[in-house]
Amino acid sequence: MSLSSIFSLLLMPHLRKTTTSGHRRLPPGPPGWPIFGNMFDLGAMPHRSLAEMRHKYGDVLWLRLGAINTMVILSSKAAAELFKNHDLSFAERTVTETSRVHGYHKGSLALASYGSYWRVMRRLVTVDMLVNKRINETAAVRRKFVDDMLVWIEEEARKVKEGCGVHVARFVFLMSFNLLGNLMLSKDLFGPDSEEGSEFFAAMTGLMEWGGHANLADLFPWLRRLDPQGLRRKMERDLGKAMEIASKFVKERKNNNEQNKERERKDFLDVLLEFEGNGKDEPAKISDHDLNIFILEIFLAGSETTSSTIEWALTELLRSPKAMHKAKTELTQVIGPNRRLEESDIENLPYLNAVIKETLRLHPPIPFLVPRRATDDTKFMGYFIPKNTQVLVNAWAIGRDPDVWDEEQQCFKPERFMGTSMKSGTDYKGQHFELIPFGAGRRMCAGVPLAHRVLHLVLGSLLHHFDWEIDASVDVETMDMKDRLGITVRKFEPLLAIPTKCMST
Ligand code: HEM
Repeated sequence: MSLSSIFSLLLMPHLRKTTTSGHRRLPPGPPGWPIFGNMFDLGAMPHRSLAEMRHKYGDVLWLRLGAINTMVILSSKAAAELFKNHDLSFAERTVTETSRVHGYHKGSLALASYGSYWRVMRRLVTVDMLVNKRINETAAVRRKFVDDMLVWIEEEARKVKEGCGVHVARFVFLMSFNLLGNLMLSKDLFGPDSEEGSEFFAAMTGLMEWGGHANLADLFPWLRRLDPQGLRRKMERDLGKAMEIASKFVKERKNNNEQNKERERKDFLDVLLEFEGNGKDEPAKISDHDLNIFILEIFLAGSETTSSTIEWALTELLRSPKAMHKAKTELTQVIGPNRRLEESDIENLPYLNAVIKETLRLHPPIPFLVPRRATDDTKFMGYFIPKNTQVLVNAWAIGRDPDVWDEEQQCFKPERFMGTSMKSGTDYKGQHFELIPFGAGRRMCAGVPLAHRVLHLVLGSLLHHFDWEIDASVDVETMDMKDRLGITVRKFEPLLAIPTKCMST
């Protein structure tokens, strides 16, 4: 046999074992290549390429990504089956190479193994930090940071040339970062003299960058030591720096007991420091390592998710003047021209609520949720799913599922959630499996109550405070709507929009 025929045999699409494992039937999927499996089927925008495959393979797809068995959920029906009847079987997480750096995964709530540590941390977040009563106590803090953001945007608009827009998402990101810093540590990270804040911000943006890269070492475990893209090395550097600064924040707090007594409200760090476990199936105290990781995780979870959602919402509204007009008219009618939007107004703003839902339907910031993993061999919708299979739930495809959304499912149409429309009762709180930007089941986003308020407050304030126009260099009709996948799905070309102040407060 010639060398070239051996070579072509090796690279011939690998048809074997893509649909069966022993006698047990795996879900259907495209044939893979030896060694690489289906890596090349993902393309640059895997949420889009995998959504397309539903036409050929159905609601549940099987892929082999390098050495990793992967099941992809592509329809609302399959998501309902997963979250309602198999949530426990898929409650573990996949841990990536970069998230092992400095033992991040060991202290992380989002990546924790489904067990006692996860239970303790999850309870602290949902019961002691983000229960409604606690969130209400910090409404003024959020309002202050949103006000600061409006001022930054106004100042920036004065600096740029006429007809040029401001990069709105950057300001929303900075605001979210400062806000989370305050809720977590009662600290303004971007104060006039906060060098530490800038260093922390730089290190954290590094983490988001390296954590969001597709890493070959995740697909081929034998590449781990080589670190071919240098991601582990970069992560070690930036995570190391971020942890060092976080540990300084914790030390400061521990050493300043007197000042702490003067603080009126408890922040997230107080909750963590006050925790006392039974020391048996839960830790007696949260270790310093885990405290540091938790601090970083709150920033990672809540900053880019928020800024990317607001950027998409404003982009969609600028492309749809009717929807923009309706959202602004509602704000004027409910709040009036001379008052700021408060969180207590949110439930009286159904159109704003519909805009947020519609944005999250079309642009879920984490399109595959946080990958799950099968705890054991499992039967799922008639298929055999081997232990340790990675599970990707394609929330992006599900938001466009033609079986549950009307024929205009690709269009931005907040009205679908209004009045007597079919989807008026649908929300993103984990009970409606056609709209799952925050996931569902046991591992659903723990930050929904906070994210819900922040998204409404920020978008509502941007619309109530300013009139918006698109940058003169961009044609609304042909505007680039491409996205790019990092730690979240962001707009490929950042939105540049021109604000004109329209409120008298
Ligand atoms: C627009 C804003 C946000 C979006 C779209 C979002 C989305 C998500 C998604 C998709 C997951 C995985 C769910 C699953 O696997 O089923 C998740 C997990 C998580 N999120 Fe969020 N999130 C947002 C904001 C926040 C905020 C503000 C916080 C905290 C302050 C937060 C904390 C968490 C945590 C701790 C987890 C891990 C939960 C677990 O594994 O038990 N998120 N989020």
